[in-house]
Amino acid sequence: MRIYLDNAATTPLDPEVFEVMKPFMLEDFGNPSSTHAHGRKVRAAIESSRKKVAELLNCTPGEIIFTSGGTEADNAIIIGAIQTYKIKDAISSPIEHHAVEHTLATLEKLGEIKLHFVRLDEKGHVDLVHLENLLKEFPNSLVSLMQANNEIGNLLDIQKVGELCQQHNAYFHSDTVQTMGHYKHDLKQLKVHGMTAAAHKFHGPKGIGFMYINKDKKIKPLVHGGVQERNMRGGTENTYGIIGLAKALEICYREMAEHESHIVKLKKHMIEKLKTAVPGINFHGDSDNLNRSLYTVLNVSFPESEENEMMLFNLDLQGISASGGSACSSGASAGSHVLGAIYPNSKRGAVRFSFSKYNTIEEIDFAISKIADLCKVTV
Ligand SMILES: Cc1ncc(COP(=O)(O)O)c(C=O)c1O
Repeated sequence: MRIYLDNAATTPLDPEVFEVMKPFMLEDFGNPSSTHAHGRKVRAAIESSRKKVAELLNCTPGEIIFTSGGTEADNAIIIGAIQTYKIKDAISSPIEHHAVEHTLATLEKLGEIKLHFVRLDEKGHVDLVHLENLLKEFPNSLVSLMQANNEIGNLLDIQKVGELCQQHNAYFHSDTVQTMGHYKHDLKQLKVHGMTAAAHKFHGPKGIGFMYINKDKKIKPLVHGGVQERNMRGGTENTYGIIGLAKALEICYREMAEHESHIVKLKKHMIEKLKTAVPGINFHGDSDNLNRSLYTVLNVSFPESEENEMMLFNLDLQGISASGGSACSSGASAGSHVLGAIYPNSKRGAVRFSFSKYNTIEEIDFAISKIADLCKVTV
């Protein structure tokens, strides 16, 4: 038995998505920039995919720009906004994904911006009072804060952050890679200027994503070289990727309530079983709080022991794919900057279990029995 509990890293492709991609890999191979019939057919499919994504998110098709994934989209918005609006200060948190963190750090090293970190509370949530104070001190800045943390699942109220940004004339970018397809986004309501997504996190193909750029807060492109994506991202489009992305998002929206309630059940079950199976177990961040964390992510903090340090490796040997990270930087592994920022003195091992619509209660029970064996307790 092999169980996949690493869906925050990537998800399996939905077969329904594969079906719509196939013709664009085989028969409909034209370059969408070509003006002949081969090209026009693919162009039409891309534009109808863009329209579909825009309808789902309640924005205009012109506000959706396809990219190679979340990393490129985060880079493009951050760099583009800073250059376009001549922004001198950026406000972010120490637990952003490296696609954001490293981009901002590079810009600071180049002397383009001064980076300010917002304080986090003991569970890793953004301190909104401190954010407001930073915004007062540094108006007209760029704010980059993710909607859900990919390691611990903490959720941020981006509506509230958007309102604060509006009051202080800040450009608000939110990395929504982990929430896209799991929650509804109504872009007519949300006061966010730039948002990002990667299809492989919601049962779409890898190597394709998109950015939403609010039409009143346009930015300069990052990738030059062609007129594709309305001059916003040069390069021949990943045609079957785009078509797969739109289908995957459509399925997410169509079945969201059903998937959410199934996955919430799995997560609740795992939390309860782990509490009885492993004395002294804890959860990192707010990941065991169903009201304030992404329902697909559970980050477990095992009591300190030699066996638990090897937990991830041993789980893999037992047929369970999950992912890890620890707060401390121990020679071999760099550790997790997220856990390091929240628990600077902790030596506890961490395992992130992340779920999808394809997981079952039986799989969770199997994982629990293996964890209990590894922790040498009986369930
Ligand atoms: C929050 C977040 N942002 C950005 C990315 C990067 O996405 P991609 O690997 O598709 O470029 C990821 C992927 O792990 C992520 O979880």
